[in-house]
Amino acid sequence: MEIFISQAELAGMVQDLAAQVSRDYAGKRLLLVCVLKGAFVFLADLVRALTIPCEVEFVTASSYRNSTEPGKLEVLQDLSLPLEDYDVLVVDDILDSGNTLSVMLDHLQSRNPRSLALCALLDKPSRRLVPVQAKYVGKQIPDAFVVGYGLDYAQQYRHLPHIAVLNDENN
Ligand code: IMP
Ligand code: MG
Repeated sequence: MEIFISQAELAGMVQDLAAQVSRDYAGKRLLLVCVLKGAFVFLADLVRALTIPCEVEFVTASSYRNSTEPGKLEVLQDLSLPLEDYDVLVVDDILDSGNTLSVMLDHLQSRNPRSLALCALLDKPSRRLVPVQAKYVGKQIPDAFVVGYGLDYAQQYRHLPHIAVLNDENN
């Protein structure tokens, strides 16, 4: 499988993102909300590169399995804590159609956080169906299916330390 983003490049992207977040959220009460499962590796590296305090929570979103309406999502595992006192930064692996994140952001906004923004490691702008703005993006990529560094294909490849492009011969 072809390496698309090396371990070293990923480390640099994460350092840059962490520096921006540390600067922008200094003095605030930062809550990072990690969207499972794909963002778990990114989140783990990001928090260790921050120079400011933060809290961490996890949410899970999934496509409705028995819905006839495509794009409908359900929030499977939700946050228990009140968000009013927090500046919330949602951390996700990749911004694709925007379906998952627009539902997740609407859901979190309804809980009245002090502020709400999105940090995505990767962004495929050409795939967008729903307008979603990420305040922080590690890297914009073309329309290819990528795996590794937490991202999966059929639950495989999440353990790769780099990002690879999945070709048809791998499926
Ligand atoms: P969206 O709702 O279409 O934006 O999809 C977002 C989710 O789909 C991401 O959080 C990923 O979990 C998954 N996804 C989208 N593109 C890729 C990819 O290239 N590789 C692995 N997972 C992807
Ligand atoms: Mg995801």
